[in-house]
Amino acid sequence: MNNFNLHTPTRILFGKGSLAELRDQIPAGARVLITYGGGSVKKTGVLDQVYEALKGLDVLEFGGIEPNPSYETLMKAVEIARKEKITFLLAVGGGSVLDGTKFIAAAANYPQDIDPWNILLTRGDDVKSAIPMGSVLTLPATGSESNKGAVVSRRSTGDKQAFMSDFVQPVFAVLDPIYTYTLPPKQVANGVVDAFVHTIEQYLTYPVNAKVQDRFAEGILLTLIEDGPKALKDPENYDVRANVMWAATMALNGLIGAGVPQDWATHMLGHELTAMHGLDHAQTLAVVLPSLMNEKRAEKHAKLLQYAERVWNITSGSEEERIDAAIEATRNFFEKMGTATRLSAYGLDGSSIPALLVKLEEKGMTKLGERQDITLDVSRRIYEAAR
Ligand code: NZQ
Ligand code: ZN
Repeated sequence: MNNFNLHTPTRILFGKGSLAELRDQIPAGARVLITYGGGSVKKTGVLDQVYEALKGLDVLEFGGIEPNPSYETLMKAVEIARKEKITFLLAVGGGSVLDGTKFIAAAANYPQDIDPWNILLTRGDDVKSAIPMGSVLTLPATGSESNKGAVVSRRSTGDKQAFMSDFVQPVFAVLDPIYTYTLPPKQVANGVVDAFVHTIEQYLTYPVNAKVQDRFAEGILLTLIEDGPKALKDPENYDVRANVMWAATMALNGLIGAGVPQDWATHMLGHELTAMHGLDHAQTLAVVLPSLMNEKRAEKHAKLLQYAERVWNITSGSEEERIDAAIEATRNFFEKMGTATRLSAYGLDGSSIPALLVKLEEKGMTKLGERQDITLDVSRRIYEAAR
């Protein structure tokens, strides 16, 4: 096992009715800006419940944060946060609202003479403070509710980039599985696929004898395989929703990634597909991952065999046959969730691959993966095999 330094300071308020604990988490005298997306929280009544819980506090709101939150929209909220001297941000929604709010939190406190897009260009390294934030999560997927990462898109340049900073880690997260009952099937699937791939990015690399991390990761994968399809079939099954929600949080709160090599190439290749073609985040992962697994089958050999056996119960056949079967099982699982795994299913014929590679190169993404051996040429092969 590799050395690690792990700090996961987000308080989790989990379960039915946990919004009742919201008020106690917000500092007395706070001036709060509630942030939300395109209106689902209005329709579902969650926003009303939040207002009710915060009665008596000084509260403003900013709605309209879109999926794959844009710098252009978020800068309007930054202006409000600065002008209104906001001291606490409360994100109510999915990963996009949470990520967008992390950007607002950091950008509001950023030196006023520097364009806050610089936060993305420096990947968060020069963030020195942020407005504290909490979240009420309505879509289990990204893990953003208890991690320090955020992904922001800039529409004018067609970029989608991530940053990380301890300063934007949410102070608390309210996770009420009932809030996920209203998710459309596509978003249920997106959440399950995203959490699955987060786990894979930290698990399917090479062995370092990290038994707890491996078995936690396998537990998350098995839970998603078991309960993901059930969430589609039986949307108001509380136990199913609770397990999916906690699996998604656990998949990217730092725990399973501590002390192990990490890949993240599927995500980097996927972000370019979203930025250029507008595919949902999870759709891009479902397209890239099976292809990447096959391309890196030699380097990931030992972990692919472990994954085949412990996650899919594949124990017969030659080693290469077992790896083939594990890749196929992964693809079938995504398809079963309703998430297509080929570029062609999204109307893409691969003609944009050279342009996607140019975007990767611009960002310095020329050596990806746990061994930094996914060069542009390898990325090209991965995209091509995903057609
Ligand atoms: O915008 P509203 O109206 O709220 O509707 C949303 C949105 O249209 C809807 N929705 C959310 N909760 C709902 C609901 N509809 C009905 N009932 C509910 N309970 O779902 C749609 C998608 O929401 P979005 O927040 O975009 O989805 P998700 O949570 O999958 O977030 C995706 C974003 O997170 C980034 C992705 O790149 C993408 O930009 N990621 C963030 C990560 C992180 N911070 O650690 C890691 C991930 O790998 C990922 O990159
Ligand atoms: Zn993801």
